[in-house]
Amino acid sequence: MIQEAKRYIEIRTPLRPRIAVVLGSGLGAFADELTAATPIPYAEIPGWPQSTAVGHAGRLIFGKLGGSLEVAVMAGRAHLYEGHPMSAVTHGVRVLGALGVRSIVFTNAAGGINLNLSRGGLVLIGDHINLQGSNPLAGPNDDSLGPRFPDMSEAYSREYRDIARQVASEQGIAVSEGVYAAMLGPSYETPAEIRFLRAIGADVVGMSTVPEVIVANYLGIKVLGISCVTNMAAGMLPQKINHQEVLETGVMVRDTLVRYLKALLPRLV
Ligand code: HPA
Repeated sequence: MIQEAKRYIEIRTPLRPRIAVVLGSGLGAFADELTAATPIPYAEIPGWPQSTAVGHAGRLIFGKLGGSLEVAVMAGRAHLYEGHPMSAVTHGVRVLGALGVRSIVFTNAAGGINLNLSRGGLVLIGDHINLQGSNPLAGPNDDSLGPRFPDMSEAYSREYRDIARQVASEQGIAVSEGVYAAMLGPSYETPAEIRFLRAIGADVVGMSTVPEVIVANYLGIKVLGISCVTNMAAGMLPQKINHQEVLETGVMVRDTLVRYLKALLPRLV
C-alpha cells in the first residue's frame, strides 16, 4: 500500500520535497501559501485513510514555498480516536518517507497543562509521553526500513528546536518548550487526569502526533513538533472544553503560525 501510494503521488506531481508539514485541527491555512500547488484529496490516493475530524481538510498538497522550496503538506490526519488502527494513523508518514522526505514539522492542537501557558500560545515539543496504550511499531519489523528497537532519546531534533527558537525570536513570535502527552481520546481528559499528567511532567496534552513521530524517528526522518494551545486543559478554568473553542483558537493563531512556518521551513533543510 505504501508503494502504491508513492507511485500514485509521483505520477500526480513532479515535485520531490525533502521536507513536509502536517497541519493539525483548525491549522490548515498554511497550505494556501504554496504556489505551483498540486492538491491531492486523500480519497484519491490508494490506501490513504480518510480523516473525519471536523477542521481537518483531508488532502495532501505538494507545492513551493517562497517560489523555490518544495514542500509536502498533509492537511488533516487520521486519529486513533476515529477508530483507525496505528498503521492508518502513520500511513502518511510512511508514504512521505518512501517519497524521500527527510524532515517533518508536525503541528497539533493541544490543551495547556502547564500553568505558565495560555490559550493561543505556541509550544515547541521537546519530548513526549505516549499514553495511547499502543505503539505503531508493534508487530513484525522490516529491518530494511528501520531498527526493531529504535532510540527515542531525541525524538524531537534538538538542532531543529534551536533553529525554531531562533526563528521565533527573529520573527517576534513567543514560543515556549514543553512535553506533549498523547491520550487516545476522543473524550477530553478529566481534571484528575490533568493533575496526573502535570505530575508526570506533561506541559500540553493532545490526541495525535506521537504515533507519527515514533514512525518518523524509526525511518530516520528529523522531527520538529509545534503545539498550539487551543484551550487550557480540563479543570484549570471554570468552564467546559469544547471542540468549537479548539477550532476558534486555530483561527486566532492562524496568521502567526503561517508566518512562523514560512520563516522556519527554509531554515530546516
Ligand atoms: N485535550 C486533549 N486534546 C486536545 C485538547 C485537550 O484539552 N485540546 C486540543 N486537543
